[in-house]
Amino acid sequence: MKICSATAPSNIALIKYMGKTSHTVNTPANASISLTLDHLLSEVEIHDSESATDSWQPLIKEGWTAPELSEKGQARFLKHFAKLKEHFGIDGSYQVLSANNFPSDCGIASSASSFAALTLAAFELAKVKGSAEAESTSMKQLSELSRQGSGSSCRSLYTPWALWRHEYAEPVEGLPADLEHQVIILNDEKKEVSSSEAHKRVTTSPSFEGRIERAESRLESLLTGLGSGDWKQVSDICLVEFEDMHELFETSEPSFSYRTDDSRKVVEMVKSFWQENGDGPAPTMDAGANVHLLWRADQALQAAEFAASLPDDFQVVASPGLAGD
Ligand code: DP6
Repeated sequence: MKICSATAPSNIALIKYMGKTSHTVNTPANASISLTLDHLLSEVEIHDSESATDSWQPLIKEGWTAPELSEKGQARFLKHFAKLKEHFGIDGSYQVLSANNFPSDCGIASSASSFAALTLAAFELAKVKGSAEAESTSMKQLSELSRQGSGSSCRSLYTPWALWRHEYAEPVEGLPADLEHQVIILNDEKKEVSSSEAHKRVTTSPSFEGRIERAESRLESLLTGLGSGDWKQVSDICLVEFEDMHELFETSEPSFSYRTDDSRKVVEMVKSFWQENGDGPAPTMDAGANVHLLWRADQALQAAEFAASLPDDFQVVASPGLAGD
């Protein structure tokens, strides 16, 4: 029987969390900032269990897709749940069910939203169980707890912007609240390197030297650009930042790459779009082949034009404000 549930959104970082000072509790080498993708959600339900141990199950819900979690993926999710139970002093064993409102094969990473939803669901469980610890738990503490499950999830507790400097993420005021998001879903047939593994490998790249300073200085310029409405500056910083991260991947030992010919093609199309229109999107890429584009609210027509110019086999998933493109 269901005891409680929680949902949490995904997020896309513009200054990336890449490289850690602790791989066990996910403390970041540098600060990162993300836009929360309120339309891309994970839900976690917690149910009673007859079993002696916690277990994970797909959550069956109309319009939602249960992730295909490997044994390793389930173990990682349940390990985080165990840590949360310990923190809140929750006894007993439970069934943890999860689903996303976006398909698991569409190339959108669900770890940030699912770990954030799990943290919030455990917090709800703690309240139901009358945990004294839950009474005094702040958003900062929830963010810090979520970080220990998956780093980027600590930013999913705030919208529209979250800034994560050290232990926890915090909301950022005064930045545009109405940006739209498109993700161009591209097939990546290469062998996958998990983002947790990427965090380890990047430190072997010769370019990791100076990475922290580069990220910190871009963060300051990005905040200035977003705050003053200098969209060209925002777009330029997003571009150099994700290219920097991907170059770290491609020059690490052993090297690996998520960029495909199609990702490079979309990025070239973005650059041409800017040249032709004197305006365009802010592009970014995570640890995958997909290209994410941010558009200002007044650019809906440009976003539709850009999407229409893409090859037919490139799927575009857009935020609700761009629906219909
Ligand atoms: C490239 O949060 O997935 O998306 O802490 O090991 O779970 P773990 O890593 P994760 O790393 C995300 C990396 C990124 C950049 C970002 O979201 O900042």
